[in-house]
Amino acid sequence: MKILLLGKNGQVGWELQRALATLGEVVALDFDSPGPLSADFSKPQGLAATVRAVAPDVIVNAAAHTAVDKAESEPDLARAINAEAPAVLAREAAACGAWLLHYSTDYVFDGSGDAPRGEDAPTGPLNVYGLTKLEGEQAIRASGCRHLLLRTSWVYGARGGNFARTMLKLAQEREQLRVIDDQIGAPTGADLLADLSAHMLRTARSDASVAGTYHAVAAGQTSWHGYASHVIDFARAAGVAVKVALGAIEAVPTSAFPTPAKRPLNSRLDTSRLRSRFGVVLPDWRHGVDRMLTEVLGR
Ligand SMILES: NC(=O)c1ccc[n+]([C@@H]2O[C@H](COP(=O)([O-])OP(=O)(O)OC[C@H]3O[C@@H](n4cnc5c(N)ncnc54)[C@H](OP(=O)(O)O)[C@@H]3O)[C@@H](O)[C@H]2O)c1
Repeated sequence: MKILLLGKNGQVGWELQRALATLGEVVALDFDSPGPLSADFSKPQGLAATVRAVAPDVIVNAAAHTAVDKAESEPDLARAINAEAPAVLAREAAACGAWLLHYSTDYVFDGSGDAPRGEDAPTGPLNVYGLTKLEGEQAIRASGCRHLLLRTSWVYGARGGNFARTMLKLAQEREQLRVIDDQIGAPTGADLLADLSAHMLRTARSDASVAGTYHAVAAGQTSWHGYASHVIDFARAAGVAVKVALGAIEAVPTSAFPTPAKRPLNSRLDTSRLRSRFGVVLPDWRHGVDRMLTEVLGR
């Protein structure tokens, strides 16, 4: 199996380089990869020649404009990367008979209510990022290509910056913290998503009927406040010199931290379709976060 991986240096893309290697030959590119193959999503049309040159059996797209607040002031760039480029990939996948595995987000929903949403729930993005990701989804479905579309949420990787690292740093510098407690979701590891993606592609190779849209998040739920508290408790137990006192993490509403992009309050996603079609039960969010913290803290 020949796999074209795009966005190889992102959180998920990095983990995919490892996970996809078990399936076959991986041609991994990022937007500034040297050589003749263009993987710059801000110039979507250039991607068609790349797909034709590689002639893959599978295209995995981990590239995206993920700067949610920045997207509000650069909607054209966000649309090119999140909607127009995936549309080109989908068209090319349909033309050459390749599978397309693509990632989307809980931000395609409006976040109302408190129930987990299924894949067919009505969409209603609140910001440019969510809207352009939704347009990308729609283009993929309309193309007729065989696809696996994974909606996920609150992604973290051990490499580079992430929410947990920021909380660890602040907890060592400050005696008090204020963290949002009215957005609810499930922190989901990039490594888990990459391994899940490889498993899904392996299944799809022998059973094309699994094509479709899936919600793919770790089990359980928390708020950013619950997530931060868990991270800081873990660090304290691991012997890190934490300044913030027990109970000194103040829970505040989203309105306490105004941002250019509005965010959904309810990011709960129902993963029962993934469980029934792929036989996969994803672990509780704390499992992956603890593993990441062990790596980050070197303990
Ligand atoms: N992060 C989350 O919390 C989250 C939540 C839900 C869904 N998702 C989805 O999950 C997928 C993977 O996300 P992630 O967390 O791995 O994101 P990420 O770490 O931001 O990775 C995205 C990658 O796309 C690259 N990219 C940016 N502009 C590009 C361009 N013009 N051409 C080609 N590549 C470009 C980025 O490069 P630079 O870093 O150099 O800009 C980065 O390597 C995305 O589809 C995202 O929408 C993410």
